[in-house]
Amino acid sequence: MRRTIVVVGTLLLGASAAMAQQEIAVQQDNLMRAQAKSLYSVILKMTKGEIHYDQKAVDHALAELEADVGKIAKTFEVNPKQDVVDARYGSSPKVWQNKADFDSKIPPVQKAIADVKGKIHDLASLKAAYTTINDRCNDCHETYRLKLK
Ligand code: HEC
Repeated sequence: MRRTIVVVGTLLLGASAAMAQQEIAVQQDNLMRAQAKSLYSVILKMTKGEIHYDQKAVDHALAELEADVGKIAKTFEVNPKQDVVDARYGSSPKVWQNKADFDSKIPPVQKAIADVKGKIHDLASLKAAYTTINDRCNDCHETYRLKLK
């Protein structure tokens, strides 16, 4: 009886550890998706004319993006050692082998945002801002993001 309890207890612990790891992977993915919402679903769509230019929405998206980018280093502190179930992208193991280099890709995104903040007033300046910021996102993705499917 006692042995059964120990075995079940160990199994439960194992299951909750796996769940915790999946939760970490989901949190990391959700942060990236939140950034994509600001940069792609708002800013990129506006540059393409898919939604109307809206100064308030631009300023709001940039503020959200700035806040989210500030969370990357901490959110990616722990290696979940698994991908989000059914995800299109995953993290390379290199993130945690070279965490300092991974983290060094964050300030350039923050600088790109700071540089355009308050200077976007029309479609032309929005387009330029989009490219400036997105290039810096990709500098990290090139090395640290894996396409899973
Ligand atoms: C310091 C590195 C780093 C920076 C900077 C970064 N990302 Fe990511 N991004 C990752 C990693 C690692 C993944 C793969 C793991 C994941 O999806 O959580 C990823 C995944 C993504 C995904 C795919 C999510 C999915 O699974 O559908 C999107 C979209 C994304 N990032 C958008 C952005 C945008 C927009 C920016 C810039 C504002 C940005 N990222 C900046 C590291 C970074």
